[in-house]
Amino acid sequence: MNASQSPDTRASELVAVMSLSQKIQMLHQALADTAGSFGAAGYVPAIPSLCIPAIVLNDAGSGLADGQTDVTAYPAAISQASSWDPTLQRQLGASLGEESFEKGVNVLLAPDVNIARVPLNGRTSEAFGEDPYLAGQTAAAYIQGVQSQHVIATVKHFDGNNQETNRMTINAEISQRTLEEIYQPPFNAAVNQGGAAAVMCGYNQVNGAYDCQNGPLLRGDLDGQMDFKGFVVSDWGGTHSTVASALNGLDMEMDVVQEPAILTRLAPIDNAAVENYLGEPLKAAVLSGQVPISVVNQMVHRIFRSMFAVGLFDHPVPPAPTGYLTPVDTAANQAVALKAAESGSVLLKNANGVLPLTSADKTIALIGLDASVGAETVNQAGGSVRVDQPLVSTPLAALLLRAAQSGDTVVYYDGTSPQVAAALAKSSNVAIVYAGYTEAEGTDLTNFNFTNAVCTVAVSECESVPANSDQLISAVSAANPHTVVVLNTGGPALMPWLNQVSSVLEMWYPGEEDGNAAAALLFGDVDPSGKLPITFPASLSQLPTNTAAQYPGVGGTEVYSEGLLVGYRWYDAKHLTPLFPFGFGMTYTSFSYSGLHVTPDGSSVKVSYSITNTGSRSGADVAQIYVSDPVASGEPPQQLKGYQKTFLQPGQTSVVTLTLPSSAFSYWSTTTNSWQIAPGTYGIRLADSSAGYALTGTVTR
Ligand code: BGC
Repeated sequence: MNASQSPDTRASELVAVMSLSQKIQMLHQALADTAGSFGAAGYVPAIPSLCIPAIVLNDAGSGLADGQTDVTAYPAAISQASSWDPTLQRQLGASLGEESFEKGVNVLLAPDVNIARVPLNGRTSEAFGEDPYLAGQTAAAYIQGVQSQHVIATVKHFDGNNQETNRMTINAEISQRTLEEIYQPPFNAAVNQGGAAAVMCGYNQVNGAYDCQNGPLLRGDLDGQMDFKGFVVSDWGGTHSTVASALNGLDMEMDVVQEPAILTRLAPIDNAAVENYLGEPLKAAVLSGQVPISVVNQMVHRIFRSMFAVGLFDHPVPPAPTGYLTPVDTAANQAVALKAAESGSVLLKNANGVLPLTSADKTIALIGLDASVGAETVNQAGGSVRVDQPLVSTPLAALLLRAAQSGDTVVYYDGTSPQVAAALAKSSNVAIVYAGYTEAEGTDLTNFNFTNAVCTVAVSECESVPANSDQLISAVSAANPHTVVVLNTGGPALMPWLNQVSSVLEMWYPGEEDGNAAAALLFGDVDPSGKLPITFPASLSQLPTNTAAQYPGVGGTEVYSEGLLVGYRWYDAKHLTPLFPFGFGMTYTSFSYSGLHVTPDGSSVKVSYSITNTGSRSGADVAQIYVSDPVASGEPPQQLKGYQKTFLQPGQTSVVTLTLPSSAFSYWSTTTNSWQIAPGTYGIRLADSSAGYALTGTVTR
């Protein structure tokens, strides 16, 4: 307990005085007891004689989940990524960390940084989109926030965990270069920039070995290349062996059998394994000499090292049930949830300045079940990420209130009949239609439209979505050209009616502040400033994973033959025009860039530019830096390597300087098995989306 010693020294001293049974107890899930883990997904009991606190693990991608109550429901991860705002993301992480701490939870099972290789993945909303750099930066900020509250963040699911179809067994065949450049950088940023103290290994296999016993992944890439010093915990029921897991880098096993709530959730979808591999079987393997005691010591050491480093010994969480019963949805945390929901919303279309609503919009038709009081609104995904928290305010309630302030009227209709909706729209100045689809862990989507949304994890977790949203939007927009569509989707949407409507606002799954965020954005109290972290395809056939061998796999294997061409990298390389490109998002004002300077600075490169708010409202823009490598490197046409969100008043200009490290110019060489810089000229685009307005420059390396 000498806090002046290093985490490593403290861990070593502790391991040295433990019996084998005590060590084994640290390595696996225990049955919750009264002193234990109310509402948590996982629990490792305390050893009071050695001052070792209990470890309580809980899901928290967008709020404390697993049945915890009186907590804040923040927006989904895909919305968090859409704000492109690390400062806000750190604040969200700190709020979540604080809630966890108060609840007695000292390990959070987030962030999820799996890349949106297949946007049909039922967990797209749980992660940060399709770009490794954006996902890594968003994750690092979240982790810094969480861990500032003495709560460990667990970055997941390492690695290649990019679809839900056959998720417990699917083998992802991925080349080392693709792993290095696309699927590992977010983990690297989480570990080395964010300081993540834990990593969760996934259910699936990569290149023929289950993630949680995958030596090349865990020992080679994670421990070796990324120099990860924390502990690796299995996904729930994702362990498949005792000896191979211990020898290949798994440190803690979580199974599904001990926690009744988890078993109920997971058993139907996964036929979840009920074995335990790192309890008694590991003890037996040590006693029989199959696993050296030094390996067990190392496993326990890694757990303690993280616990000491993040402060779990020195700042113990309140014990259950005190913590469990504490309401933590404070006004301050709700304010963060509101700001995040506003900041993560993306304005995709706004013809003729129909938004924000003005004093001319006296009568507003609000249409769609998702907007209404009493209906179950699409404000969250299902599965382990689901937060048990009602809306603070539905869109209907919030819009009624806000409209009343400016003397306007809102008339609501649930949208059951497109004809009735159209008649209402015709007699109104403006029509707002809500549409969306649900998604949840355990199942992939079959498409992105609003008629086929499926949810099979637990029907009670799914929400009703009107089956006819496309028809509804067409009918309403035919009756009133001033039609605004608000989307609640976990990933891309197809929009057959796009040309007929005036505005589209993507709000993803905004969490409990759904209504208040919508009202603020639609009325222009807040300027939309989110940008897409994922490409919206024009059709399903545009997706990079269009063969069965790629997705959902054949004979138990999915082949990542698209290689580096994930997301916009694919659309750029194939000259495909998506519905909306990666990085795209409009504001109520306008911005221009000027004076791009690209200057070598040792092994890094400085990029500076001026950004001006050329419109008449305050707002924020995200300037994005895309690097194009010399052709010989074999890299995709361009890749995001930097960005900066800048808030400006009308007419205001700001000069921004960003530094691109040498890694922004490196590729993974399969010849040398290391990062290399291809000599030659690199293109630099300063752009407002992957396909948008840009200033260009070059630099030689
Ligand atoms: C999910 C994990 C989650 C765990 C515990 C699993 O089904 O894949 O992301 O952390 O359950 O709830």
